[in-house]
Amino acid sequence: MSRIAYVNGRYLPLAAAQIRVEDRGFLFGDGIYEVVYVNRGRFVDAEKHLARLERSLREVRIAMPVGRPALEGILREIVERNRIRDSGLIYIQITRGAARREHVFPQAGTRPTLVVTARALASFPKDVDTWATGIVTGPDQRWARCDIKTVNLLPNVLAKQAAKEAGAFEMALVDEAGMVTECASSNIWIVDAAGRLRTRPLGHDILPGCTRAALAELLGGERLTLEERAFSLDDLRAAREVFITSATSFVRPITRIDGATVGEGEVGPVTRQLFAAFSRHVQGGLPNAA
Ligand code: PDD
Repeated sequence: MSRIAYVNGRYLPLAAAQIRVEDRGFLFGDGIYEVVYVNRGRFVDAEKHLARLERSLREVRIAMPVGRPALEGILREIVERNRIRDSGLIYIQITRGAARREHVFPQAGTRPTLVVTARALASFPKDVDTWATGIVTGPDQRWARCDIKTVNLLPNVLAKQAAKEAGAFEMALVDEAGMVTECASSNIWIVDAAGRLRTRPLGHDILPGCTRAALAELLGGERLTLEERAFSLDDLRAAREVFITSATSFVRPITRIDGATVGEGEVGPVTRQLFAAFSRHVQGGLPNAA
């Protein structure tokens, strides 16, 4: 079955779906995006993702091309048309539209481009131990507004490729002060050498992850407390436990950093507990009403 994409009001086979050559997303990276995980018909943390989408648009002054209920309808339709029953991801991209190439905003009335695609993913991981992976570290070379989910992902792409070439899944990014910001496409948490669960506070230097927020809300029920306090590369290397969070990594244990093991190289108890809590969060709810 061929995959189906939504582009500006039409559902088309992926191979036939098109945007204009002068689309500002293509020319300037002048657009924003979201990635939503869907599990058995349920959009995980949908409210958080849609709220962040609207915020990103406001921050870069792109108008929302359709209302929230219409967008939710498109998301349900794209999941249905792509026959995603078990596990999948929905990709939403909105750009400032197509217009003659000039840096300044196009004239009023230029219609933003809305693209929505979806694809199936492997089932939610059953086993936290085999879900564990490794990361490398490198400099954070991004811009000053990493809190906006823009499609300008060149530094992230280069970081992720460097990680892959080193046999790792992610790169933890380190700022000029030697502090860890986040990873190329996920947030990063540690249980530090003193046993405290920590992640960097929100600010312009990291993306406010929806998985980060959802997990933070689950901590009370787990009798765990979080310190939102930045940690250094040295803290990361000395941590007892490390894990990353994102819409498609969920809670993913990190057991190797730059080739060295984290702690004993096994998934630690806090990571194990949080993976289980997030697994219930993902799989426990009811499907979205059609
Ligand atoms: N990435 N930080 C960055 C730089 C990200 O790109 C992402 C998400 C996150 C985690 O955010 P969330 O929990 O809302 O997924 C943090 C998505 C999955 C992507 O670009 O594919």
